[in-house]
Amino acid sequence: MAKQTFPAGFFWGASTSSYQIEGALDEDGRGNSVWDTFAAAGKIADGSNAARACDHYHRWPEDIALMKAAGFGAYRFSIAWPRILPEGSGAVNQKGLDFYSRLVDGLLAAGIRPMACLYHWDLPQALEDKGGWQGREVVGPFAEYAAVVTRHLADRVKDWMMLNEPNVVAIFGYGVGDHAPGHKLGEQGILRALHHQNLAQGAALRAIAAQHSGLTLGTVINLQPCRGESDKPEDVAAAARWDAVWNRVPLDGLLRGQIPPLLAEKMKAFVLPGDEEAIRYPIDLLGINYYSRMTMKYETGHPFDVWWGDPRAERYTFMGWPVQADGLYDLLMSIKTDYGNLPVFIAENGAAYDDVVSADGAVHDAERVAFLKDHLLAVAKAVAMGCQVKGYLCWSLLDNFEWGFGLAKRFGIIRVDYDSQLRTPKDSYRYFSQVVKSNALE
Ligand code: BGC
Repeated sequence: MAKQTFPAGFFWGASTSSYQIEGALDEDGRGNSVWDTFAAAGKIADGSNAARACDHYHRWPEDIALMKAAGFGAYRFSIAWPRILPEGSGAVNQKGLDFYSRLVDGLLAAGIRPMACLYHWDLPQALEDKGGWQGREVVGPFAEYAAVVTRHLADRVKDWMMLNEPNVVAIFGYGVGDHAPGHKLGEQGILRALHHQNLAQGAALRAIAAQHSGLTLGTVINLQPCRGESDKPEDVAAAARWDAVWNRVPLDGLLRGQIPPLLAEKMKAFVLPGDEEAIRYPIDLLGINYYSRMTMKYETGHPFDVWWGDPRAERYTFMGWPVQADGLYDLLMSIKTDYGNLPVFIAENGAAYDDVVSADGAVHDAERVAFLKDHLLAVAKAVAMGCQVKGYLCWSLLDNFEWGFGLAKRFGIIRVDYDSQLRTPKDSYRYFSQVVKSNALE
């Protein structure tokens, strides 16, 4: 196959999130988050927790060195809200700000562009105690937090992402209860959590823009093209409903100031006049997380009478997710056509596999290499078709705490031994590094 070269200035790197890698949960004045409460209640499948995770809070210089050696030009990390405002609002914890300040300085010294995400799921427990994302009381504190963090870091960090995957927070955290805070509130719980995250995001974007100019502002959404398991009208309609919940509420809320017509009736109890304008914001850059398509079917007993259908894929990851790189191409093309070719970047893409450490101490993760290659080809093809894809960050730099699954699912291109904290770059790290350094796919 011919060599595919990416545009000059295309940025490469990896993503992580605070709760999944930092550890040090009781250090330097950090407050509790909903995930601490959820883990303490015994809700993590393998019985583990994130108390130590990758110990990145202490080992970040080593992690930056690994990124530098791979040739990365960018890194998306998230800031832990409970480290900055332990009670969610009010008193500021300087030691929390200092940690991110050190990290940012380290990244810049290594020539790596720091891309900060404000919210990757670690909601301060104090705010959950007041209703969390179910109510609009959380909107003010999120904007306050955004203003505090950017006041301290926006002199050096130019890229600011507001939320990570509001759809996952709403559905799994408030709808079906697999994620913290573990509520099973069904449709209304899901839609309320989505709407209030949208509102908080709009308020935070405005709070940051009022203080600073010249920043790149955006957010990160997990977009997944939805289709019916069959051509039966009830499956096709189920997929359309799920598309409205999963993709359209976050995307059309932000980019069009629009509540999807399919959901307007169900949302009218808590959408107030003026909300749609407050949610809409002309962002500079959209972060897209892509893992797979979604194949949905009609089934009662679940929110929106929708459930996961059989994707009939040839390959699956260790999460049981289908490998569908063509879905990434379709998704990028639809953003180009439907949303005015907005600049985007891949903020997460990657896979968990049941990695084995070989006798030589290495991890020969051929399936992850193949996964990355297929998806990078899809990105290259979309770029060639004129999509404004500005960069690609893989998920994830390190094996880490995979939420409700705990430490059992490994997504890293670098293996982490959770006992010794030894980092071992996998074959996928070497493969990806070679793509990064040549800015091309062979
Ligand atoms: C999240 C990550 C998560 C990954 C794999 C995304 O939904 O942003 O935090 O680890 O997918 O499940």
